[in-house]
Amino acid sequence: MNQSQNPEDAAKLYGNRFLTEDAPAKDFPASGMSALDAMRLVDEELVLEGDPWRNLATFVTTWMEPEAQRIVSENLHRNFIDHAEYPISAEIEQRCIRMLADLYHAPGETTGCRTQGSSEAIMLGALSLKWKWKERREAAGKPVDKPNLVFGGDVHVVWEKFCRYFDVEPRIVRLQEDKYVIGPEDVEPHVDENTIGVAAVLGTTFTGHADDISGINDLLLRIKEDQGIDVPLHVDGASGGFVWPFLYPHSEWDFRLEQVRSINVSGHKFGLVYPGIGWLVFREKSDLAEDLVFYENYLGKTDATFTLNFSTGASMVLAQYYNFVRLGREGYTHVMEAMNQNAKALAAKLEENGNFELIGSDKEQLPLVAFKLAGEHDYDEFDVSWQLSAERGWMLPAYTLPPEAEDVKIMRALVKETLSRAQVDRLADDIKEACETLDKKGGAHPHERKKMKRSPGF
Ligand SMILES: Cc1ncc(COP(=O)(O)O)c(C=O)c1O
Repeated sequence: MNQSQNPEDAAKLYGNRFLTEDAPAKDFPASGMSALDAMRLVDEELVLEGDPWRNLATFVTTWMEPEAQRIVSENLHRNFIDHAEYPISAEIEQRCIRMLADLYHAPGETTGCRTQGSSEAIMLGALSLKWKWKERREAAGKPVDKPNLVFGGDVHVVWEKFCRYFDVEPRIVRLQEDKYVIGPEDVEPHVDENTIGVAAVLGTTFTGHADDISGINDLLLRIKEDQGIDVPLHVDGASGGFVWPFLYPHSEWDFRLEQVRSINVSGHKFGLVYPGIGWLVFREKSDLAEDLVFYENYLGKTDATFTLNFSTGASMVLAQYYNFVRLGREGYTHVMEAMNQNAKALAAKLEENGNFELIGSDKEQLPLVAFKLAGEHDYDEFDVSWQLSAERGWMLPAYTLPPEAEDVKIMRALVKETLSRAQVDRLADDIKEACETLDKKGGAHPHERKKMKRSPGF
């Protein structure tokens, strides 16, 4: 450094002052910094986060085409809720809903909305179940103080969250050591006149399988006929809603089934859009409880809103529309099949490896491999996940299943668009090598075990 130059000037000239200073983290900064410094500060901190290319845990999209990225970045200023200012964005949302209704075989005109993700869609869909149930009960002069909702232990935590936040009794069908999805025989004992609905999952977070939705539909039809109780079925297609229509088009889980009244799907999972987009679609307009729709004119035009949030970006809606028109049924089918073929290739290699047993690979499943250790080992699935991450940086989650299958430990690798066949082969080799290391060292150290993550990742 030139002796006449103070450190601030030198930093301006030669680089980032946060190479040697702490990042602002506590007090609101008294003064600012140059745009370049601020950008480098944020960028350099983020470098230490997980690498999406090695992340086999998340269902969420980590890559979009450059053209889609351009749409996203050029439209970040658009406030989706401001329909007066941005009516075309609102129309594009409606186009997406109509396309999804078509994909899910809605019998006629319907309604729905964009949401922040499946969690918001589920909260809204389940609220509508609750309000519709209340309408039915009040019309029959019956009490409305004990609503319940039936679902399996294989659901995402958001369903329990809904029950707690909105005061509904959760009736949870427990899993079993060898049964990780639910069917009509599990649901039947829990349904009564206070049941606002049954939630079934298409593509569970844990193993990627589907509940027996068509069997549950038949059960609910029988209950309607025999007991006169109309219990609607909501399908949580957070992940499966963009997989089943393309990989298993003949499998009936959607509005082809009479009791399926609403469906949620995450655009930011297999809808192939970056985080921040989900969808709720009703079978018919009348399935949305009118009491939940608010009319306001803050933004210069009277608008109907049915959301838990208000202001939010329009970019992801536009990106979803981009994907729909860019890919169409043929393109989505191609992408899903490519992922599925690579998942099957990985599954075959893991079987060949001899250490593992696949979970339900012969059934309809998301493009993933769920597996566990077979036979006796001095290490467990958590150790394999830890060793693989230590040796090659792969994030491949290990976790236990929900009650009463909590003794079952599972590993799960999402096989996404960004995982090429060459990487699948490398991953299989890396898993083999991690097992060889563990065979020699005999499991992770107790200190390492304390640091292990134990969740499926989303
Ligand atoms: C079955 C299921 N439902 C709901 C959710 C929540 O979805 P989101 O992250 O889009 O809010 C997830 C997330 O993984 C899921 O797998």
